Amino acid sequence: MTDKIRNQTVLITGASSGIGYVTALELARRGARLGLAARREDRLESLARSVAECGAQAFACRTDVRERSQVERFVQMALERFQTVDVLINNAGYGIRARIEDTTPEEYLDLLQVNLLGTVYGIHAVLPAMKRQKRGHIINVSSVAGKRAMPQSGAYSSTKFAVNGMSEALRVELKPYGVRVSTVLPVSTATEFFDVAGRKSGKPAKPVGPIQSSEKVARAIVRCIERPRPEVFCFPPSRALAVLNNLAPGLVDRIAARFMTMH
Ligand SMILES: NC(=O)c1ccc[n+]([C@@H]2O[C@H](COP(=O)([O-])OP(=O)(O)OC[C@H]3O[C@@H](n4cnc5c(N)ncnc54)[C@H](OP(=O)(O)O)[C@@H]3O)[C@@H](O)[C@H]2O)c1
Repeated sequence: MTDKIRNQTVLITGASSGIGYVTALELARRGARLGLAARREDRLESLARSVAECGAQAFACRTDVRERSQVERFVQMALERFQTVDVLINNAGYGIRARIEDTTPEEYLDLLQVNLLGTVYGIHAVLPAMKRQKRGHIINVSSVAGKRAMPQSGAYSSTKFAVNGMSEALRVELKPYGVRVSTVLPVSTATEFFDVAGRKSGKPAKPVGPIQSSEKVARAIVRCIERPRPEVFCFPPSRALAVLNNLAPGLVDRIAARFMTMH
C-alpha cells in the first residue's frame, strides 16, 4: 500500500451505497479527505461517521447530480473545507431494464441527466481548481455495458457509451494541464443497482454474466488513483468482450441473444 492517497481530497458522487460507499471507506483507511455526495443524506451522515472512526475527515453534502447548482455547491464546500480538490469520482448512476422500444423519452432523459450530465457537471465544477493546481484526477465510473450493449439495457448502455466517449476526448484535452482522466469499467457488481433498476422498470432486474463485489471495484478505483490509467477493467477478462466486439460484433450479437434467452 503506498501513501499516495493520504491527505488527498477525494470527492465521490453516489457515495450513499454500493461502489461509492465502499470506495469511500477504502480511501478513509488510507487517510484521504473525503467529500460525499448523493441524495440520501442520512446514509451519507452515517458514512461520514464511519470515515471519522477510521481517523479520516469527511463531509456529507446532499446532492442531486441532475442539478448543476447542487453539484457546484458540493465542490465549493470541498474547496472551502480542504482548499484543494485532487480527485473527483463521478460514480452516481443507475440503470433500467427495458427494451429500447419500451423506454420512454422521459426515462431516457433522466438516465442521461444522471449518468452523463451529472458527470459533466462534476467535471465543469472541479476543472477551474484542478487547472489552477496544475494537477488532478477525474475518474468516471462507467461500465463494461459502455463497451458492448446487451438487450434490455440499451438505454443505460447508451449513457455509458457517452461517458466513455466524453472521457476519451477529455483525457487528451486535459493532459497539458496535468489533469488525468480515467474510466472505470465494472462488470455486474453486487450492490443496490439491480433493486433500483427493478423498481424503476416495474420488473425484476438480475445481473448478467460474472458478478463481482463492490470491494473489488473499490480496490480497482483506489489502485487507479495510486497509478492512473486511461481505462480500468475491474474484471480483467471483460476486456476480451470489448476486443471481440470490435472484431466481430455479429458474433457477440449471437452470444448476447443466447444469453438473454437463458435469463
Ligand atoms: N452494480 C453494477 O452491476 C454496476 C456495473 C457497472 C457499472 N456500475 C456503475 O457503478 C456506479 C455505482 O453504482 P452501484 O452499483 O454502486 O449502485 P447503487 O448501490 O445503486 O449506488 C448508486 C449511487 O448513485 C446515487 N445516485 C443515483 N441517482 C442519483 C442522483 N440523481 N443524484 C445523486 N446521486 C445519485 C445513489 O444515491 P442516492 O439514491 O442516495 O442519491 C447511490 O449512492 C453507477 O454509475 C453504475 O452505473 C454498476
